[in-house]
Amino acid sequence: MAGLLHQIVALCAAFFWALHSAQAAHIHYSVNEVQNTTWDYIVVGGGLTGLVVSRRLAEEAGKKVLVIEPGMDERKNEDVYKVSKYGAAFDTKLDWAFETKPQAVIEGRTRKIRAGRLLGGSTGINGAAWNRAARAQYDSLGEIVGDHHFNFTILQSYMNRAESFVPPNHKQKEAGADFVSSAHGWDGPLSIGFSPIKHAKRMFTGPAPHAFTEAMAAVLHAPKLADQCDGNNTGVAFTPTSISQQGIRQASYMYLEGTGDNLHILLGNRVRRLLWNDGQPRSATAVQVQAAPDAGIYVLHAQDEIILAAGALNTPGILERSGVGAKDVLDKARIRQVINLPGVGKNLQEQTMNTMGLKADVNYTGGGPSNTIANTNIYQLFSNATQMRKYMYNHLDEWANLLQSQGHVVHASTLQQHWKHVMHAFLDQGAPVTEHFFDTGYPANSYGIDTWFLLPFSRGSVHVTSSNVFASPSLDPNYFAVPIDMDFQVASMRANRRLFAHMSKQPGFTHGEHVPGMELVPENDNNYGAWRAWILGLENKGDGFGTVSHPIGTCSMMPHADGGVVGPRFTLYGTTNVRIVDASILPVQISAHLSSTLYGLAEYAADMIRDRV
Ligand SMILES: Cc1cc2nc3c(=O)[nH]c(=O)nc-3n(C[C@H](O)[C@H](O)[C@H](O)COP(=O)(O)OP(=O)(O)OC[C@H]3O[C@@H](n4cnc5c(N)ncnc54)[C@H](O)[C@@H]3O)c2cc1C
Ligand SMILES: *[C@@H]1O[C@H](CO)[C@@H](O)[C@H](O)[C@H]1NC(C)=O
Ligand SMILES: *[C@@H]1O[C@H](CO)[C@@H](O)[C@H](O)[C@H]1NC(C)=O
Ligand SMILES: *[C@@H]1O[C@H](CO)[C@@H](O)[C@H](O)[C@H]1NC(C)=O
Ligand SMILES: *[C@@H]1O[C@H](CO)[C@@H](O)[C@H](O)[C@H]1NC(C)=O
Ligand SMILES: *[C@@H]1O[C@H](CO)[C@@H](O)[C@H](O)[C@H]1NC(C)=O
Repeated sequence: MAGLLHQIVALCAAFFWALHSAQAAHIHYSVNEVQNTTWDYIVVGGGLTGLVVSRRLAEEAGKKVLVIEPGMDERKNEDVYKVSKYGAAFDTKLDWAFETKPQAVIEGRTRKIRAGRLLGGSTGINGAAWNRAARAQYDSLGEIVGDHHFNFTILQSYMNRAESFVPPNHKQKEAGADFVSSAHGWDGPLSIGFSPIKHAKRMFTGPAPHAFTEAMAAVLHAPKLADQCDGNNTGVAFTPTSISQQGIRQASYMYLEGTGDNLHILLGNRVRRLLWNDGQPRSATAVQVQAAPDAGIYVLHAQDEIILAAGALNTPGILERSGVGAKDVLDKARIRQVINLPGVGKNLQEQTMNTMGLKADVNYTGGGPSNTIANTNIYQLFSNATQMRKYMYNHLDEWANLLQSQGHVVHASTLQQHWKHVMHAFLDQGAPVTEHFFDTGYPANSYGIDTWFLLPFSRGSVHVTSSNVFASPSLDPNYFAVPIDMDFQVASMRANRRLFAHMSKQPGFTHGEHVPGMELVPENDNNYGAWRAWILGLENKGDGFGTVSHPIGTCSMMPHADGGVVGPRFTLYGTTNVRIVDASILPVQISAHLSSTLYGLAEYAADMIRDRV
């Protein structure tokens, strides 16, 4: 009955959005068209967080908002709106495809981190999985940023604002989908729900997700959860997606529906830097934009605020080109320092993924939405978690000093504090440590499990090397610099192998593990080295890990004295009117895909900018 009511509410919301979509933002392709206006707000980046904040600011009567985005409007591009074509946009002009510096742990090879370069940003190319982290992790954000308004209760209400949740229908319920009502919103811009069975051939069909769920409970004691969005995501669930019931991707550009005259978007242009007045603290008065390496540089003025939302790997560069950052970094790039903030570009956290495969009776391949995600905690993965706790505490000093000496964090002591909060959540409050994303057809003709340690201890950095906005940044995720990250990755692979062994006893799953398989990684108690080599792709054991493309932390929200870049109202230290709202502000990683959380943070930021909280 409650389900039916919610469906009616969701339907009405969908109708409301359709009705208002005629009134949409103004899109511009030439800087001439936006140059002669003094904007109230300029938002840098039309991705996830940028479009949320823009829409909310444009709701203020009489406020003129300009969004600047390097990419184009790709809403009619199949590679974008069909999530089943996941991956088609990679290495095209829609993908920033950031290349890392040579990584020591993989003998100098590199990796590519993906990010969307289009209206909608990374939500235009992402995998559309929709989940949230553990309550304890949101609550500990309050401790880390130094403001108790950051807690699960508050953030959940903001995360819910993005959603028009569509509860599972009868068929989807039968297939395993469920939900907890309070964990969702009912009248937001995004239609969130379970993928329609008839539009996505891999959704809820066949026995595989159930076999995986059953194995999770039997082998790892990871319970089946009704909903991974309610603050307890330790376990396995059928996961909603940001895909409508018509099979259309729900990227952040859904926030543009019904925005009216206040909102303008300039496409095909990059923000090069901010321009400052001479006051102390500084105020930004304008941005410089450039459309191509050989094009002219233009100035666009803002009188209230400039909001940075260019993503975790591009926002630090905009700051550094504006003279905001560490002196040594700016000197090397021959940029004059305006504000000394050594945390800019540091504290980068990125996850690493390996995929194991169980040979299957399926004849298809490729990526696409999968519907089952398991998150396991340290006690489910390790029989020696107590020794692990001791081992970690004994090494925090050494690891933090290493990362500080490498220049990836400002203060070793702050990093230790962060780790202690993260460990408290996963050692004492049951927060997950690894994700196991069940993936039918990837690797080819397999039931796959894409697996990653969610909370890497390693830290890296991203910095500019010149003032040219078209030059690639120097990007160093510093993968596996802290050895414990490998211990977690190995443990999660060993867990997968046990899951496969269990699943293989059932009819239809009897072909056994074939990636990596027993030849590459023999099964015995001393195979840590073989797992490590396979995870890294060394010793002819395959290609090695991929990156998850969930970078965070490069403009962290934390106290100034800790090396923070923004304060708890998202304001850039040393300025009066610059805020950062994108993934770069998250100081520590959380145990979930990022989008739902970032929608919530951006909604919260918008309320602060509008002085509503
Ligand atoms: C391949 C991939 C798969 C993912 N899968 C999932 C998933 O399944 N579920 C999930 O929840 N999350 C997923 N994510 C993560 C999620 O989409 C991102 O974390 C989120 O979109 C980040 O939001 P953001 O606003 O920080 O940056 P973005 O959404 O990336 O937006 C940044 C925008 O700024 C623009 N920009 C960059 N430089 C400039 C400049 N100089 N001037 C102006 N604009 C600029 C960019 O073009 C972009 O549009 C995935 C991400 C990727 C890349
Ligand atoms: C804006 O100003 C520039 C220079 O003053 C002028 O060339 C251009 O035509 C103006 N554009 C519009 C749309 O008014
Ligand atoms: C979360 O923060 C708000 C605002 O400070 C507070 O009212 C509320 O009690 C907090 N909730 C919890 C569970 O701590
Ligand atoms: C896969 O293809 C093979 C050979 O074409 C066929 O024998 C088999 O039945 C197919 N399996 C499925 C699950 O469709
Ligand atoms: C815990 O066990 C794993 C193997 O299961 C081993 O690799 C690791 O070294 C052990 N850690 C400690 C601290 O004992
Ligand atoms: C999460 O839910 C599971 C299953 O209901 C339960 O066993 C577990 O104790 C819960 N964990 C937390 C941290 O609430």
